[in-house]
Amino acid sequence: MKFFIDTADLAEIAEAKSWGCLAGVTTNPSLYAKTGGKLADFESHMLKIADLCEGLPVSVETTASTVEGMVEDGLRFSSLAPNIVVKVPICEAGLAACRMLADKGVRVNMTLVFSATQALLAANAGARYVSPFIGRFDDIAEDGIAQLADVVACLGNYDWSGKNVDSRVEIIAASVRTPLHVTKAALLGVDIATVPFKTLSKCLKHPLTDRGIALFEADWKKVEQA
Ligand code: E4P
Repeated sequence: MKFFIDTADLAEIAEAKSWGCLAGVTTNPSLYAKTGGKLADFESHMLKIADLCEGLPVSVETTASTVEGMVEDGLRFSSLAPNIVVKVPICEAGLAACRMLADKGVRVNMTLVFSATQALLAANAGARYVSPFIGRFDDIAEDGIAQLADVVACLGNYDWSGKNVDSRVEIIAASVRTPLHVTKAALLGVDIATVPFKTLSKCLKHPLTDRGIALFEADWKKVEQA
């Protein structure tokens, strides 16, 4: 399973990238708002992320609500840099826009997916990535991981050749809140998990690792001083 980082914060992306295990970035309007960025700077900020990522896929989300608006946003975003993927919410207009963008060779990440049927519709509309949300489903006392398992099983039953520019659909486990979500997604064979920086750090840290490093350092000092 590949790791994407779910943030629009340049410092977080740079830090995660420096670890050598980052495969992409996902952003959304809320994550951009969190950076304090202005509307006028939105596209230049996304371009900075795309440059920083050096070819890794960066999802940039449309805020338009019509097919025309989504397609217009999608074509503009994807022309900013070749590694920009257009994020489109699943709805009637989103599906239509996805098909039009896919037909023009634009990669689409269909977001806000909460059911296997939505995922199947997205893949048929030419989505390159499908993003089922785990945490927000858990938030309403539903089982986000069980829903993710259904998406994996349903999409895995079919060949998506010819449906989009790369003839493959990758599932991005989104709305990931805990390292356990990450482990469960990997156990299901999910292609990608997009993880906030805080959760990514929690995935890395283990108290026994910290204790082990401290012990090795202390013992090595003894060797040096012997
Ligand atoms: C997915 O690409 C979304 O940006 C994201 O995972 C949403 O997560 P949240 O539910 O923590 O806002």
